[in-house]
Amino acid sequence: MVQEYLNTPLRERNSFGIDARAARLAEFDSAESLCEYLARTPRTTGRTAVIGGGNNILFTGDFDGLLLHPVGRACRIDARGGDRVAVHAEAGLPWDDFVRLCTENGLWGAENLTAIPGTVGAAPVQNIGAYGAEAADIIESVEVIDLNTLKPSIIAAEHCAFGYRESVFKGPLRGRVVITAVNFRLSRTPHPNLGYGALAAETAALGEPSLENITEAVRRIRASKLPDPALIGNAGSFFKNPVVEQALAERLRSRFPEMPSYATADPDRIKIPAGWLIEKAGWKGVTRNRAGVYERQALILVNRGGASGANIIALAEAIIADVQAKFGITIAPEVNIW
Ligand code: EPU
Repeated sequence: MVQEYLNTPLRERNSFGIDARAARLAEFDSAESLCEYLARTPRTTGRTAVIGGGNNILFTGDFDGLLLHPVGRACRIDARGGDRVAVHAEAGLPWDDFVRLCTENGLWGAENLTAIPGTVGAAPVQNIGAYGAEAADIIESVEVIDLNTLKPSIIAAEHCAFGYRESVFKGPLRGRVVITAVNFRLSRTPHPNLGYGALAAETAALGEPSLENITEAVRRIRASKLPDPALIGNAGSFFKNPVVEQALAERLRSRFPEMPSYATADPDRIKIPAGWLIEKAGWKGVTRNRAGVYERQALILVNRGGASGANIIALAEAIIADVQAKFGITIAPEVNIW
């Protein structure tokens, strides 16, 4: 089934709470109904894009094309024995419901990704990640519909070009396919991933490293640092953590010995937390024209109420320029700007 809305408000459909409208929005509950709808719907004006929970999008104006929104939420866990367990989830399932289904069934691999806002279909697009885990670790394949041919296909994980908050769906396949479901592979064997120090400490305070304790620890850490979009508009991290040349990192470390940094797969390149750079540059807690920098995590821009997309962009641009001037590092948005 497809439910179509014309000239519809988007404020409740994006976690930034930006007041924009979509010329046309269609909610679809299956790949078949989506194809049937697209086949009979002329797409003459504007572009076609997909919106899940709207948790990683900043609208800078009205959307003049067609927005597709998956609402199918079915999730099937392969009941066969063995350690590796296949899980098939439809794109419209809220991500945290998926994580809960996995953990309640004793499946390991998704627990560190507890409480990330958004839908299953959005997870592969930016390869969501937290506390040393990312969606790509458990994704087996992604089911899509090609917007031109209206044919379904399954893209294996090795062809998804997953990287740090990156994938083929943000790159060459952007605007060309609609994700309808994701196939995951989880494990029945416990393998706690507690490399992120604060998670190890919070879990230990709760007891043994069980799925229940790890998910509770993640919930507590997130609640202490990240604003709830139901209460204050935001899209999680607004910027990506920049990866810089080792030489630049060393020059900065001699000026700021306390600067946190992380090794990457490339020994010549170091990841530096953008939140630290933004805080050090003096932006934490600053508000300009109703757009603000969250006071407990400087990586997050918030809508203090009534901010437009342009207000948020103006703040982001001022921060980018200042971080560039102070540290010689260009930070880039992680959020999709529409
Ligand atoms: N830091 C500061 N000031 C700040 C924020 C951070 O000094 O205002 C420092 C922290 O003290 C710490 C370091 O920066 O030493 C890293 O901070 P944190 O562990 O909070 O993580 P992050 O690098 O800021 C990333 C993800 C988050 C994810 C956390 C935990 C990105 C863009 N963000 O943030 O993901 O929850 O790690 O794994 O990679 C998201 O993508 O929306 C998101 C929330």
